[in-house]
This record gives sequence, structure tokens and C-alpha cells, in this order.
Amino acid sequence: MPALVIVGAQWGDEGKGKIVDFLAEDADIVVRFQGGNNAGHTIIVDGEQYALHVLPSGVVRNKKVVIGNGVVVDLDVLRHEIAGMSMYGIDPDIMISDRAQLILPYHKVLDGVLDKDAGIGTTKKGIGPTYADKVFRVGIRAGDLYSDDLEEKVARNREMKEALIVGMGVDAKLPPVGEVTGTLRQHARAFEGKVGNTSEFLTTALKGGKNVLYEGAQGVLLDIDFGTYPFVTSSSTGVGGASIGTGVPVRYLQKVIGVVKAYQTRVGAGPMPTEETGELGEEMRQKGGEFGVTTGRPRRCGHLDMVALKHSIMVSGITSIALTKADVLGGADSIRVCVAYDIDGKETTTMPSNADDLWKAQPVYRELPAWEEIDEIAVKMDGYEAFPEEMKSYVQYIQSETDIGVDIVSYGPSRDQTVILRDLWVS
Ligand code: IMP
Repeated sequence: MPALVIVGAQWGDEGKGKIVDFLAEDADIVVRFQGGNNAGHTIIVDGEQYALHVLPSGVVRNKKVVIGNGVVVDLDVLRHEIAGMSMYGIDPDIMISDRAQLILPYHKVLDGVLDKDAGIGTTKKGIGPTYADKVFRVGIRAGDLYSDDLEEKVARNREMKEALIVGMGVDAKLPPVGEVTGTLRQHARAFEGKVGNTSEFLTTALKGGKNVLYEGAQGVLLDIDFGTYPFVTSSSTGVGGASIGTGVPVRYLQKVIGVVKAYQTRVGAGPMPTEETGELGEEMRQKGGEFGVTTGRPRRCGHLDMVALKHSIMVSGITSIALTKADVLGGADSIRVCVAYDIDGKETTTMPSNADDLWKAQPVYRELPAWEEIDEIAVKMDGYEAFPEEMKSYVQYIQSETDIGVDIVSYGPSRDQTVILRDLWVS
């Protein structure tokens, strides 16, 4: 029963899209299990760039793609993305869980209103309010598209948002119920036959020996429970989320690949102890192309944070590391990693649960040898051995500190800029 789960081990934007695309070659099915179109996954194949937000990245390889029950789906965006694939000659073979929650225009309005106060810097795609509605038990699910009382459900949903927004003293426009229901009915027709029981589908596929690739979004440090709360997204980004978000028992999900960027980035507000706010941060941003795929916002950049990484590995079930963007550090004057935090004069290697403590955390750095730019031609010929010695020591350092193997090293955005050290589908 081969399932591979890919999760982001930091604050998102680790390069999951590329790793998913790479591993999708041998997958039969690629499934998203959490998040929504707050995600932005970039894939570059033969110079062609695909930016995906809702569609699982496996679509680029023409694989069967599944949107699990744990995803919050903006059907406008999904249809737009599907239509966009036609210019590449791809007609996505998609199945959507009938239990997946739908993002309505009301959620997006509320997201904007709430974030004005909260200052989390959300993507304003309606993610948090849609998950909140699921818990409030007033959400609208993909299966509801075909129910007779869809209009009543939309009305109730709108009413709650209106009460909340008016209660907050905000004058925001919410589209009428008829208009929203009408659009949903159009979507219902467009997705006729594609909405169903995805847990049954996935479990049957796994039992039948199919290769299923789980595509995580965001990262463990943005996890609703284990991230830097409240500066987090609203879903479970680790292997637990993969199980709950697809209705497949966790015992099927034994292999979890944590995608780790060789340095640290964060988009949106919230503490980030290793952030470099000056020239060095700007250099990293430019060299690494660190600008959001979804919002275009510049990403905050800094040094690899081992305290945060070890925490991520512990809580998310990561069994294997895919290291990305090591090339970006090539040519740097020095390489620093944060090995502990100093909080109020006390050193700790435990990730604080409280954002206030994390704001205060001063990174304790260890200096590691820097490396020259990677010789791509040599790496293409000789593989891993051709990486600079110091870079290989960096990889070794991460492995020994985390006790997890680095099984994939990505040194550029293209599919072919990848070195694989272990065939994860097989061993
Ligand atoms: P939300 O997911 O839109 O509610 O945003 C909550 C926080 O998660 C904000 O700080 C966002 O910038 C961040 N976030 C959401 N999705 C992503 C992502 O795909 N990559 C990086 N950060 C993200």
C-alpha cells in the first residue's frame, strides 16, 4: 500500500510543488488533503511555469487528482485553474470529496474584515472563516451542491456572516443569496459526476496497490495546533491532517517527506527568530526569488532554524527530508543555523507554544562552512558527489541533528535540477 505524504516542514513555500511534481512521475493518484487556494505551488517543466493553487500538482503529469474532504474549495478558482490547463493540452481527471467545504464569497469578505483586527496577514482567500463554518456546522460542502435546500443553506450562512460583520461595526457588501446560489448551481453542473466519496476511492486504490501521493500545503509551523499560533493557517498540515483530510487511516501513511528549505522564509505576520531584515535578507530574497505565488508578497528571509525544524519533525511524523534551494546559499559569505533560542536570558531548544515567547527569542547561532556556487553540469553528470564538500557537510549536519535522512536534494526550480538519494516509492 504505497502512499507518500509530502508536508512542508517550515512556514510554507519550501518547494513542495516541485517535489510533488518530481515524485508524481511514479504516482497513480495525487491528492490534496488540507488548505485551499491560499497555497501556491510552482512547477517548472522545460522552461514552462505552472502556478497552481487548488489543483493538486500531479495534474501537470496528467495524473488522476483528488481533492480530499479536508480541503476548503473555492470552485470559481478551481474551474478557472482547470480551464487554464487546456492551454497545455491537459484535461484534469479530478475527483472532489463530497465532504469538502466550499469557500463562499462571504468567507472572503469576512477574512478581510477579521484580519484587519487580527493582523495575521492572511491570504484573504476565505480559508479561516470556511474552516470555522465547518466547526460551527453551518458550512456548505461539495455534496450540498446537489441538494434541494442549497439556497436555504446559503441564506443561513450569509445571515451569520452579516450578523458578525454588522456586529463588528463594519459596512461590508455581501452578495445576495440568489446570486451565490446561482453560481453554485452552475458549478454543480460543471462538476457533475466528479463529486463523491474520495475516502472509499483512495482506500480502494491503496489496497489495490496503487501509488498515492499526498500533497500538503503550507507548512508545519503554520499548523493550527502546532504552529506559531495565532499566526497560523486554519488546518492541520502534518500527517494527522493527511489522514483526517482524506478519510484514510494513518496506518496507511507511513512515509512522510518533509520538504525543508536550506534557509528559512515566512510570509505574513508572526514571529520568526532567524529573520534577517537588512541587506542579507534582501539578498536572499532576490537570489531565492522569495515572492509569494498567491499574493506576490515579499517573503521574509533568514537562517535555517533547527529548533523549529526539530519541532516540525516531531509533531508531523516526518520520516524523510527533501532539501530544497541549497543552491541559493551557494556563494554566501557565511552559513548560520540557529541551534537554540535565548528567551529572557534562558537558553532553550524547545519551541515555545506561546507567540509572545517566540517574539522574544534571540537565536543562538552556529556557524558552518560556506560553499561556492554549485557546478550544475558536474552535478548533472556525477550526481550528489559533485556538490561542494561544504554543502554536503551541511546536508550531513541536518541529517545528524534531526536523525532523518535527506533523501532528495533540489538545487533549482526545474524538474531536472534534483538529485535523488533513495527511491522513496520503493524503500
Ligand atoms: P490563511 O491561510 O490565508 O488564513 O493565512 C494564515 C497565515 O498563513 C498567513 O500568515 C499566510 O501568509 C500564511 N499562509 C497561508 N498559506 C500559505 C502558503 O501556502 N505559503 C506560505 N504561507 C501561507
